[in-house]
Amino acid sequence: MPPDPVIETRGIRRVFESRKGFLFTEKTRTEALRGVDLRVDPGEIFGLLGPNGAGKTTLTKILSTLLLPTSGEAHVLGIDVARDPQALRPRIGLVLGGERGLYNRISARENLRYFADLFGLPASLRDRRIQEVLDRVGLTEAADRRVEEYSRGMKQKLHLARGILHRPELLFLDEPTIGLDPKSARETRKLVRSLVSDGVTIFLTTHYMFEAEELCQRLAILSKGKIVARDTVAGLRRLVGGDTTVEAYGFEDSEIDRLRHLPGVGRILTEEFGPRLRLTLRSSGSELTAESVRAALGSAHPDLMVRERRTVLEDVYLDLVEEEAA
Ligand SMILES: Nc1ncnc2c1ncn2[C@@H]1O[C@H](COP(=O)(O)OP(=O)(O)OP(=O)(O)O)[C@@H](O)[C@H]1O
Ligand SMILES: [Mg+2]
Repeated sequence: MPPDPVIETRGIRRVFESRKGFLFTEKTRTEALRGVDLRVDPGEIFGLLGPNGAGKTTLTKILSTLLLPTSGEAHVLGIDVARDPQALRPRIGLVLGGERGLYNRISARENLRYFADLFGLPASLRDRRIQEVLDRVGLTEAADRRVEEYSRGMKQKLHLARGILHRPELLFLDEPTIGLDPKSARETRKLVRSLVSDGVTIFLTTHYMFEAEELCQRLAILSKGKIVARDTVAGLRRLVGGDTTVEAYGFEDSEIDRLRHLPGVGRILTEEFGPRLRLTLRSSGSELTAESVRAALGSAHPDLMVRERRTVLEDVYLDLVEEEAA
């Protein structure tokens, strides 16, 4: 039997209605989520990708009880998020980042003391636990400085410290490495992995494809409020036509047909590239190579460029999101 899911949603919709214009008489209606079905298993790092405005933060807020769905159902750790948010809150952590939610006039350590008291951490444990999370996010040296003196990245680390202070079973991370320098971003990814070895399940949104590829077991791609694909990285590669990508540039448009019939060709994408066309071919076997593409086009093109490489998550993402927009 498969394990009980940590997150399970059915048909989540969320509509935002707001007024704007002269005397606020104009009504606008945004359907941020249009029927989302999702399942996240215990102990995995689940990644949610999608363009700006796709609905990632809205979904994260619904699953972490900050926002109610307009319709549909979500169970997190077996609890209905709309019916019993109080029971869920102590068991989850949420890192939304940004400027909000921290007290600027006091130090990081004092912020964490305040949150520890809110979470009901026993006083005997509190200071030790705070020191532990400060070490874990790399803020020990700056821990007693006022947060208003913090850089953006330092605030992001403090958000993370706050998110794990009460040892949640499930952690929501909305763009956790945004604004972090490369070393801090790497340390944050390491921290995420170490949390998973402690048994924490992670639900993460990111715009960094390599980060998703490096961290996540399974991914979903959200576009305009709907999930357009959900699978492992390998499964998503198959979905867009394969592990190998061959890019070609510098031939005549009329020659594309010659490539279409090459053995091993999965999907072909064309893109304007200056006055010419750039072609991207995906392939799942080993038959399609830069050499076979070059041979098919002949040697009459002095500026022909052909490059063979592994299909990366960014290719998959762009294929799927563009397909959706088409
Ligand atoms: N409080 C709100 N009132 C009105 N519209 C909202 C509100 N919050 C979000 N939206 C709209 O819902 C849609 C989804 O927004 P959301 O913030 O979930 O996107 P996102 O995928 O997190 O984007 P990004 O990658 O930019 O963070 C957008 O069209 C946004 O304008
Ligand atoms: Mg967002």
